[in-house]
Amino acid sequence: MIDLHTHILPGVDDGAADLETSLAMGRFAEEGGITTVAATPHFYEIPDWSRIKQKVENLRAEYAKAQISVEIVAGAELWMDMDLLNMEAKDIPTYADKGKYCLIEFPMHQIPMYAEQVLFDLQTKGITPIIAHPERYGAVVEDPNLALGWLKQGCLIQMNSGSVLGRFGPAIKQTAEIMLTCNMVQMVASDGHGSDRRRLNLPEAYETLMTIVGKAKAQELVEKNPKGILSGDVQPQVEPTEYRKKKRFFFSRFV
Ligand SMILES: [Fe+2]
Repeated sequence: MIDLHTHILPGVDDGAADLETSLAMGRFAEEGGITTVAATPHFYEIPDWSRIKQKVENLRAEYAKAQISVEIVAGAELWMDMDLLNMEAKDIPTYADKGKYCLIEFPMHQIPMYAEQVLFDLQTKGITPIIAHPERYGAVVEDPNLALGWLKQGCLIQMNSGSVLGRFGPAIKQTAEIMLTCNMVQMVASDGHGSDRRRLNLPEAYETLMTIVGKAKAQELVEKNPKGILSGDVQPQVEPTEYRKKKRFFFSRFV
């Protein structure tokens, strides 16, 4: 399994507080069968791609020293912001520094008006945006079909394993299931922040994913597509479909 959304870099954001935690996260990942982890710190906490890459190199060395056989690759979680419009492509963090795919999150409670413009601008720079955990955004919980717009625009969707497992409540779990069954999701990742509460729980979610979408699709979400993203080319196999809300019928009886 390949986990492409984690806050495993020590001491840079609200993820691993120190090296010890980061190593514990790596050991936990290894035990669960995760072979590769992308370090995706919040870019607003460490807004310097070269520094992130350097810190990833340092962590790789620590993992080698500790004999943890999980590969760490560089990435970042961008914040949906107009400032991205002014950045040169080479300064924008992309997975494994390939210049092909970036991870970008939106505010939880509102999709900004300028989102479409920023996403389009990233695409003109040759970068495909991957929307981080939209199933957690209020607007998407209200209308899961919002994801279709982003997919149509050429973006990809990353879902959190915690959402699949119900860690963020029933509404988000239900939204996650809707999006999965409508093929709106291209990868699932942990968004792991530590070794306890928000750990790298992708292997746990994999079991649940298999019951929702079957084994082949589950593997695509945790292994095949993430691998493609790291190599710079992923071709999702299935077209997404629109979610049609089941209509409720109310019967009234007049006597
Ligand atoms: Fe995150």
